[in-house]
Amino acid sequence: MCGIIAYCGHRPAAPVILEGLKRLEYRGYDSAGLAVPQGGALRVVRKPGKLAELEKAVPEAGNIMNATHGMGHTRWATHGSPSERNAHPHLDCKGSLALVHNGIIENYQEIKTDLAAKGYTFSSDTDSEVLANLIAEGLTHKASVPEAISWALSRAEGAYAIVVMHKDHPGQIWGARQTSPLVMGLGVGEIFLASDIPAFLPYTREVVFLEDGELVQMDAGSWKVMDAATLAPVEKQTHTITWDVQSAQKGGYKHFMLKEIFEQPRVIHDCLLGRVDHATNEVSLPELDAMPVPKRLHIVACGTSFHAGLWGKQLIESWAKVPVNVEIASEFRYRQPILEPEDMVLAISQSGETIDTLAGLRLAKEQGVKVVGLCNVVGSTIARESNYVVYTQAGPEISVASTKAMCSQLTLLTLLALYWSRRKGLMADDERKKAMRGLLGLPEVLEASLPAMRDKARFLARTYSEAKSFFYLGRGLCYPLALEGALKLKEISYIHAEGYASGEMKHGPIALVDPKFPTFALALNDALYPKVKSNLIEVQARGGKIIALTHPGLDLSVDHPWLLPEVWGPLNAFLALPALQLFAYEVADYLGKDVDQPRNLAKSVTVE
Ligand code: F6R
Repeated sequence: MCGIIAYCGHRPAAPVILEGLKRLEYRGYDSAGLAVPQGGALRVVRKPGKLAELEKAVPEAGNIMNATHGMGHTRWATHGSPSERNAHPHLDCKGSLALVHNGIIENYQEIKTDLAAKGYTFSSDTDSEVLANLIAEGLTHKASVPEAISWALSRAEGAYAIVVMHKDHPGQIWGARQTSPLVMGLGVGEIFLASDIPAFLPYTREVVFLEDGELVQMDAGSWKVMDAATLAPVEKQTHTITWDVQSAQKGGYKHFMLKEIFEQPRVIHDCLLGRVDHATNEVSLPELDAMPVPKRLHIVACGTSFHAGLWGKQLIESWAKVPVNVEIASEFRYRQPILEPEDMVLAISQSGETIDTLAGLRLAKEQGVKVVGLCNVVGSTIARESNYVVYTQAGPEISVASTKAMCSQLTLLTLLALYWSRRKGLMADDERKKAMRGLLGLPEVLEASLPAMRDKARFLARTYSEAKSFFYLGRGLCYPLALEGALKLKEISYIHAEGYASGEMKHGPIALVDPKFPTFALALNDALYPKVKSNLIEVQARGGKIIALTHPGLDLSVDHPWLLPEVWGPLNAFLALPALQLFAYEVADYLGKDVDQPRNLAKSVTVE
């Protein structure tokens, strides 16, 4: 989730770019940079850290302010640590072109090896610099910049939005996209190209959305969109934007939480990028190749990340036959856990800064046990201190209540279970194929289901918003989801909610059930469905009202069945999770709560 802005016009480009980058900061940042043409060359300024660092550096960088064309980038690292050398824009090794990139080039290592053999050199760890050099290579045998870009993109696999400038064409800018967003803003005598509309909204509301496989060429007064493969012209429509900057940052959604819930199909897709071989149905996690499959795994995490760990335990144990202990980090750190040298700790943390999880990691390392960090924020403390790190690639999560991060953690835990089971030679081929196909198909199924899910959540929220307490019940893989559903509801709506394994109800909690104490159940089509159904009948016998996430064809009779599309086995969690999130969201919004910043909570818990 990087932010890109490019400008061709009549104003000094650098301030327009810096301002645009500021309005893209919500996309996350760990470094930033800009490039402008200057005296027949390309001038690049890059700084790690906050945008303010770049703002300070730009005026000191000579007569950079004279340029009326240029491009900038805020980086949310996916490859390579956040540092000046990894910040964008990247030049090719001869300094002839500059490139900014949002996305991941999956086959960059392969391309890098080929280019290195031809004498290309690299000064960063990024996949983006490889792409800059690949376009430069294209220019050695193609007559024009768009042809070279087209040639290079036909070799690059993965997701990208790129913008390119060439030193010999100082008035022109090229952009192209595949999966990652890119939108053009049309002003009077000026044209913008950015990852998102807020970047240029103060200047123009006339926009053209680029689609996958399109390439644009623009200067201050003209633009043309082409098919990136054939360079044939593509006709485009102009749209007029009516939002203000703030709602544009939320992509038109009322809250970041809602936007992040709707981002989950993309999050799954991005998390799988480069990790799944479509031809062989194999998972690759090269980050972990150097380490042996653990004899025993201790998952250490807090809150939502802990719930993800509880879910992942079941897949890792069942597919990879690795015994897993999942523990709340604030408990683990103050016990004397028995850790053996061949054990491994998996620290799950979206922010990578949660102090208890970090303390658990340090405790494990002190005892000579290796730690794998499963983090979203690249370069975070947990990522840096772990022996191995796997990134979830979910993009920045702005809403305090975690949603898409959990989705990405579940995706990676599924991959991890498949990866270790492959290394141990355990999983049957057709089982693995089913899992892979299911995973690859998830983004599409989820994308298609989310709008109806939201409608259902909204209806139920209005029906149940007066409840003072809720039970969330599930068994097996649905038990951690029940815990997560309850956590989401309580943290943003302030309604008391308890998540339970439904088999535990009659050991005490069922005493609370009455017509005013509703239950939100997960009764999906799995081996434990008959058991869950009996538990729900017991709740109904005490007058308890029930909402139940369930599947078509099941014989469940409850007050509000909520039918979800059915996918393969454990992957049904990926559809149940957003339903739980949307219900909590709609209740909180209906009750007028501060959804994105609930009281008493912080996004990153760096104190005990
Ligand atoms: C709940 C939530 C928290 C976090 C917890 C751990 O919506 O966001 O429970 O999951 O504070 O945070 P990370 O994953 O950053 O370690």
